[in-house]
Order: sequence, then structure tokens, then C-alpha cells
Amino acid sequence: MLVFENKSKEQTIILAIETSCDETAAAVMADGKLLSSVVHTQGIHQEYGGVVPEIASRAHLDKINSVTQAALGKANVSLHDITHVAVTHAPGLLGALITGLSFAKGLALSLDVPLVKVHHIKAHILAHFLDSSPPEFPFLSLVVSGGHTQLVIVKSDAEMEIIGETLDDAIGEAFDKAAKMMGLPYPGGPFLDKLAIEGNPKKFEFPKPNIEGYNYSFSGLKTALLYFLQKLSEEEKSASLPDICASYQKALVDFLLSKAISAMKAHGLKSWGLAGGVSANSYLRKRFHEIGEYNGWQSHIPAFEYCTDNAAMIAQAAHFLDLRNQTDPLSVEALATLSI
Ligand code: KG4
Ligand code: ZN
Repeated sequence: MLVFENKSKEQTIILAIETSCDETAAAVMADGKLLSSVVHTQGIHQEYGGVVPEIASRAHLDKINSVTQAALGKANVSLHDITHVAVTHAPGLLGALITGLSFAKGLALSLDVPLVKVHHIKAHILAHFLDSSPPEFPFLSLVVSGGHTQLVIVKSDAEMEIIGETLDDAIGEAFDKAAKMMGLPYPGGPFLDKLAIEGNPKKFEFPKPNIEGYNYSFSGLKTALLYFLQKLSEEEKSASLPDICASYQKALVDFLLSKAISAMKAHGLKSWGLAGGVSANSYLRKRFHEIGEYNGWQSHIPAFEYCTDNAAMIAQAAHFLDLRNQTDPLSVEALATLSI
């Protein structure tokens, strides 16, 4: 039984499920208003220094029920009040995606409600609309996650154009692999970010990658860091770790933003946004706002909890799809890769 106010027969109540990588997440949204968002991060991968796909799938299976129950409970909504089940179907780890998709299909079938498939990266981009003052279309989205680095012109909730992307590592990987080289725990991005706060970003200089157009390449920077670290003794390394983190982070962020600035100017855009896990990075957030202010652009970053993987963004994306009457058959497949 639904216990929150103003329920009408027409009300749309979306239960959203996200299991594309190592977060098991569920959220409930009613008529575009987020009622709850629950995220369980699988700590077990820390032992292995990276996400182990098979372990991720099994861990999702263990948690998906309790995470979903928690989201329903927090929203004060019962399963029978759900009008749509939304789920990430791509891109991501195949086994992990299949776990969430199968669970969502089972729910949709038993509740006799439509299934809505959601693209994980589109959902990251649409996470801005969980905010009370979202960007106006069109805007430039800098998609910065563990698996993607893309510059996307977002023309509407449905029309998005990739104008540039990484040719090798994603920026999240560039953070995580660097952190691993420095002996930091997994996932290294947040640890590197924390250490860098104490360091001097101008202490060491890393070469700026020379890549045409709006594309990126981060593997050269990672290799430059590896050679740099190999030349240092253990004592030198630990003494200057915060400076190394700050300088390397600056090189990544400078490169990322330089292309985005050119794209903003070339396309005459006035708003830009960060999307994906790396938008939690404190240095990137600071620089992004400073540059936006300097150029008179509106800068948008989702609330911290909606930067990394979560199901609130899946619910938001499904809300947009529902407004366009887009639902999907139960034959929807999970896909490890799929462009937006
Ligand atoms: O979007 P996300 O949660 O998962 C993917 O879809 O990939 O992004 C995860 C990535 C990881 O590489 C993680 O290290 C990075 O986001 N990340 C950060 C920070 N917080 C998360 N990278 C740098 N600084 C952070 N504070
Ligand atoms: Zn993600």
C-alpha cells in the first residue's frame, strides 16, 4: 500500500535498478520526484585491486533484493504501487548487467508493469535533472567515468552527439591505474584526490598529450608517470607523494578541460556539465567552476551522491523515456558496449 500523499491513479512510480559495475543500486521516483536512492558499493574488489567481473555478478545477486527493499521502504512505497521498472541494460560488465536486468524483468513480469531499459552513460548525463536547477539544452557534457571519457553535445534528453572521446584509457582508469602504481587502495581515484589536496600541483610537470580534435588519450600520461616513479627511491616517493598526485591530477584535468573549452567556444555553447564518477574529483570540480565563471558559462555538477554510480539517475532517465511513452519488451538484452 502506498503511504505518501496525493496518490492518483495516473501517478507514475518508477523503481530503478542499476548493476552495471560494482555498485548495486535501487531508487524510487514518483512523477519525476525522487523518493529514495540506495547504493551498496561492493567492497570485496579492494582485495583484488580492481573489479572482478564474476565476483561483481555474484555480489549483485546477494544484495539486489535487500537494496531494492531498502529503496522501497525509504520511499514508503510497496512493490504493488510500482508502475514501471527501469533498469540499466548497457554498457557495463555483461554478467553484472544481466543480474540487474533479469531481476528487473522478473519484477516487471510479476507486477505486470512495463520495463524501461536505460543507457548507463545517458543516465549519468541526465543526472543533472535530479537537481532543482538543471542545465538548459543544449549543453556540453563532459562524461568522465571509469569506463568512458567523452565530450557530448546534449541537444535534448533524447538527442545526444558525441564529438570526442578517448582513444585508449578512460580518465577514471588513468586515475585508478596511477593510484595503483603509487600503492594506493582500489578504487584509487578518490584516494589520489585526497592526497593531492596536500600537494603542490606545479611541483612536477607531465607532458600534455598531443591528440587531434576533441579526442583524448590518457595512456601516455600514465606511462610518463610510471617512468617518473621508477626513477625515485621509496623514500623520495613517499616524501613527495602528495606533490606527485597533485601534479599528475593537474595534467589529467588540464588536458580534459582544454578540449572541452575549445568545444564550448567552437559550438557557441553557454552551459556545460560534468557526468560520471570522476566528477566527484575535488580539483576538477574547482577548476570546472572557475573556468565556467571566467567565461560566463553555466556550470553544472550533479550532487556528490549522483556523480558515481547510482539508481536515481536511472530513474531520472526512465522518467524522460516514460514522458516519451518509451517502454521495452522483456526480450531486451544486456550489452557490454553500446554508444549513446
Ligand atoms: O561512473 P562511475 O561510478 O563508474 C563507471 O561507470 O565507471 O566511475 C567510477 C570512476 C572510478 O575510476 C573512480 O576512481 C572515479 O570514478 N572516481 C574518482 C573520484 N571518485 C570516483 N576519480 C578521481 N577523483 C575522485 N574523487
Ligand atoms: Zn558510471
